[in-house]
Amino acid sequence: MLGIPRDLIFYMHIVTLCVAGCGVLIADKIGFSWFRGKVETLSLKTLARLHNVMGATLALMILSGLALFWPAREYLVAQPSFYIKMTFVILLILNSFAIDALMKVATHTPFKEVSSGKKRFLMISGAVSLCSWIGAGVMAFFLFP
Ligand code: HEM
Repeated sequence: MLGIPRDLIFYMHIVTLCVAGCGVLIADKIGFSWFRGKVETLSLKTLARLHNVMGATLALMILSGLALFWPAREYLVAQPSFYIKMTFVILLILNSFAIDALMKVATHTPFKEVSSGKKRFLMISGAVSLCSWIGAGVMAFFLFP
Protein backbone atom coordinates (compact mmCIF):
# COMPACT_ATOMS: atom_id res chain seq x y z
CA MET A 1 0.00 0.00 0.00
CA LEU A 2 1.63 3.31 -1.12
CA GLY A 3 4.92 1.42 -1.22
CA ILE A 4 4.84 0.96 2.58
CA PRO A 5 5.56 -2.68 3.52
CA ARG A 6 2.50 -4.40 5.04
CA ASP A 7 4.50 -5.44 8.11
CA LEU A 8 5.30 -1.79 8.81
CA ILE A 9 1.60 -0.85 8.54
CA PHE A 10 0.75 -3.79 10.82
CA TYR A 11 3.33 -2.66 13.41
CA MET A 12 1.96 0.90 13.15
CA HIS A 13 -1.54 -0.52 13.79
CA ILE A 14 -0.30 -2.33 16.91
CA VAL A 15 1.91 0.51 18.24
CA THR A 16 -0.97 2.98 17.80
CA LEU A 17 -3.21 0.55 19.69
CA CYS A 18 -0.66 0.51 22.55
CA VAL A 19 -0.69 4.34 22.66
CA ALA A 20 -4.51 4.24 22.70
CA GLY A 21 -4.38 1.67 25.53
CA CYS A 22 -2.18 4.01 27.61
CA GLY A 23 -4.57 6.86 26.84
CA VAL A 24 -7.59 4.85 28.01
CA LEU A 25 -5.77 3.93 31.27
CA ILE A 26 -4.77 7.57 31.94
CA ALA A 27 -8.31 8.79 31.12
CA ASP A 28 -9.85 6.19 33.45
CA LYS A 29 -7.40 7.10 36.26
CA ILE A 30 -8.22 10.81 35.91
CA GLY A 31 -11.94 10.03 35.58
CA PHE A 32 -12.03 7.85 38.70
CA SER A 33 -10.20 10.49 40.78
CA TRP A 34 -13.07 12.87 39.86
CA PHE A 35 -15.83 10.25 40.35
CA ARG A 36 -14.49 9.46 43.85
CA GLY A 37 -14.16 13.14 44.75
CA LYS A 38 -10.38 12.96 45.17
CA VAL A 39 -10.34 16.04 42.96
CA GLU A 40 -13.23 18.57 42.74
CA THR A 41 -12.77 19.43 39.04
CA LEU A 42 -10.41 18.51 36.18
CA SER A 43 -8.29 20.82 34.07
CA LEU A 44 -9.81 21.54 30.65
CA LYS A 45 -6.27 21.65 29.19
CA THR A 46 -5.52 18.09 30.40
CA LEU A 47 -8.89 16.74 29.20
CA ALA A 48 -8.62 18.46 25.81
CA ARG A 49 -5.05 17.19 25.29
CA LEU A 50 -6.08 13.62 26.24
CA HIS A 51 -9.14 13.82 23.99
CA ASN A 52 -7.00 15.01 21.06
CA VAL A 53 -4.48 12.20 21.58
CA MET A 54 -7.30 9.62 21.68
CA GLY A 55 -8.85 11.18 18.57
CA ALA A 56 -5.53 11.04 16.73
CA THR A 57 -4.92 7.39 17.72
CA LEU A 58 -8.40 6.40 16.59
CA ALA A 59 -7.84 8.15 13.24
CA LEU A 60 -4.47 6.38 12.85
CA MET A 61 -6.07 3.01 13.73
CA ILE A 62 -8.66 3.57 11.03
CA LEU A 63 -6.09 4.71 8.43
CA SER A 64 -3.65 1.85 9.12
CA GLY A 65 -6.61 -0.54 9.38
CA LEU A 66 -7.87 0.51 5.96
CA ALA A 67 -4.37 -0.02 4.54
CA LEU A 68 -4.37 -3.55 6.04
CA PHE A 69 -7.93 -4.17 4.90
CA TRP A 70 -7.53 -3.14 1.23
CA PRO A 71 -5.31 -5.99 -0.07
CA ALA A 72 -7.49 -8.53 1.81
CA ARG A 73 -10.83 -6.81 1.14
CA GLU A 74 -12.43 -9.63 -0.91
CA TYR A 75 -11.80 -12.05 1.93
CA LEU A 76 -12.61 -9.67 4.84
CA VAL A 77 -15.97 -8.48 3.44
CA ALA A 78 -17.14 -12.09 3.78
CA GLN A 79 -16.03 -12.36 7.43
CA PRO A 80 -18.70 -11.66 10.13
CA SER A 81 -15.81 -10.95 12.55
CA PHE A 82 -14.82 -7.96 10.38
CA TYR A 83 -18.31 -6.42 10.63
CA ILE A 84 -18.39 -6.96 14.40
CA LYS A 85 -14.97 -5.26 14.65
CA MET A 86 -16.15 -2.36 12.48
CA THR A 87 -19.25 -1.99 14.71
CA PHE A 88 -16.91 -1.43 17.68
CA VAL A 89 -14.93 1.09 15.61
CA ILE A 90 -18.14 2.98 14.72
CA LEU A 91 -19.10 2.99 18.44
CA LEU A 92 -15.66 4.50 19.23
CA ILE A 93 -16.19 7.25 16.63
CA LEU A 94 -19.71 8.11 17.88
CA ASN A 95 -18.60 7.95 21.51
CA SER A 96 -15.76 10.40 20.83
CA PHE A 97 -18.40 13.05 20.04
CA ALA A 98 -20.32 12.17 23.22
CA ILE A 99 -17.11 12.47 25.28
CA ASP A 100 -16.37 15.85 23.66
CA ALA A 101 -19.77 17.13 24.83
CA LEU A 102 -19.76 15.44 28.26
CA MET A 103 -16.17 16.00 29.44
CA LYS A 104 -16.60 19.76 30.01
CA VAL A 105 -18.86 19.15 33.04
CA ALA A 106 -15.83 17.81 34.92
CA THR A 107 -14.01 21.12 34.47
CA HIS A 108 -16.56 23.15 36.46
CA THR A 109 -18.69 20.78 38.63
CA PRO A 110 -17.64 18.32 41.37
CA PHE A 111 -18.98 14.81 40.54
CA LYS A 112 -21.27 14.69 43.60
CA GLU A 113 -23.07 17.81 42.30
CA VAL A 114 -23.61 16.43 38.76
CA SER A 115 -27.23 15.48 37.87
CA SER A 116 -28.03 11.74 38.02
CA GLY A 117 -28.96 11.77 34.32
CA LYS A 118 -25.56 13.23 33.34
CA LYS A 119 -23.80 10.80 35.72
CA ARG A 120 -25.50 7.91 33.88
CA PHE A 121 -24.37 9.25 30.47
CA LEU A 122 -20.80 9.66 31.75
CA MET A 123 -20.74 6.07 33.06
CA ILE A 124 -22.26 4.65 29.83
CA SER A 125 -19.81 6.61 27.69
CA GLY A 126 -16.87 5.38 29.77
CA ALA A 127 -18.08 1.78 29.49
CA VAL A 128 -18.69 2.06 25.73
CA SER A 129 -15.17 3.41 25.26
CA LEU A 130 -13.48 0.62 27.23
CA CYS A 131 -15.63 -2.21 25.81
CA SER A 132 -15.27 -0.98 22.21
CA TRP A 133 -11.46 -0.76 22.33
CA ILE A 134 -11.29 -4.24 23.88
CA GLY A 135 -14.01 -5.55 21.53
CA ALA A 136 -12.26 -4.30 18.38
CA GLY A 137 -8.96 -5.70 19.63
CA VAL A 138 -10.39 -9.14 20.43
CA MET A 139 -12.34 -9.39 17.16
CA ALA A 140 -9.11 -8.61 15.27
CA PHE A 141 -7.81 -12.04 16.26
CA PHE A 142 -10.78 -13.67 14.51
CA LEU A 143 -10.23 -11.89 11.19
CA PHE A 144 -7.87 -14.58 9.87
CA PRO A 145 -8.81 -17.73 11.88
C1 HEM B 1 -9.96 1.25 16.29
C2 HEM B 1 -9.92 0.10 16.73
C3 HEM B 1 -9.07 -1.04 16.25
C4 HEM B 1 -8.45 -1.93 17.07
C5 HEM B 1 -8.47 -1.94 18.59
C6 HEM B 1 -7.75 -2.89 16.21
C7 HEM B 1 -6.98 -3.94 16.69
C8 HEM B 1 -6.26 -4.81 15.89
C9 HEM B 1 -5.37 -5.85 16.38
C10 HEM B 1 -5.08 -6.14 17.87
C11 HEM B 1 -4.87 -6.52 15.31
C12 HEM B 1 -3.85 -7.69 15.30
C13 HEM B 1 -4.57 -8.99 15.25
C14 HEM B 1 -3.60 -10.13 14.97
O1 HEM B 1 -2.45 -10.08 15.43
O2 HEM B 1 -4.01 -11.05 14.29
C15 HEM B 1 -5.48 -5.92 14.14
C16 HEM B 1 -5.28 -6.37 12.86
C17 HEM B 1 -6.01 -5.91 11.79
N1 HEM B 1 -6.85 -4.82 11.76
FE1 HEM B 1 -7.36 -3.67 13.31
N2 HEM B 1 -7.96 -2.57 14.89
C18 HEM B 1 -8.76 -1.45 14.86
C19 HEM B 1 -9.23 -0.81 13.74
C20 HEM B 1 -9.19 -1.36 12.48
C21 HEM B 1 -9.90 -0.84 11.33
C22 HEM B 1 -10.76 0.43 11.33
C23 HEM B 1 -9.65 -1.71 10.28
C24 HEM B 1 -10.12 -1.68 8.85
C25 HEM B 1 -10.84 -0.81 8.28
C26 HEM B 1 -8.76 -2.75 10.79
C27 HEM B 1 -8.28 -3.79 10.03
C28 HEM B 1 -7.38 -4.73 10.50
C29 HEM B 1 -6.84 -5.82 9.66
C30 HEM B 1 -7.17 -6.08 8.20
C31 HEM B 1 -5.99 -6.56 10.48
C32 HEM B 1 -5.24 -7.86 10.13
C33 HEM B 1 -3.86 -7.60 9.80
C34 HEM B 1 -3.12 -8.92 9.57
O3 HEM B 1 -3.29 -9.86 10.36
O4 HEM B 1 -2.39 -8.95 8.60
N3 HEM B 1 -8.50 -2.51 12.13
N4 HEM B 1 -6.32 -4.88 14.52
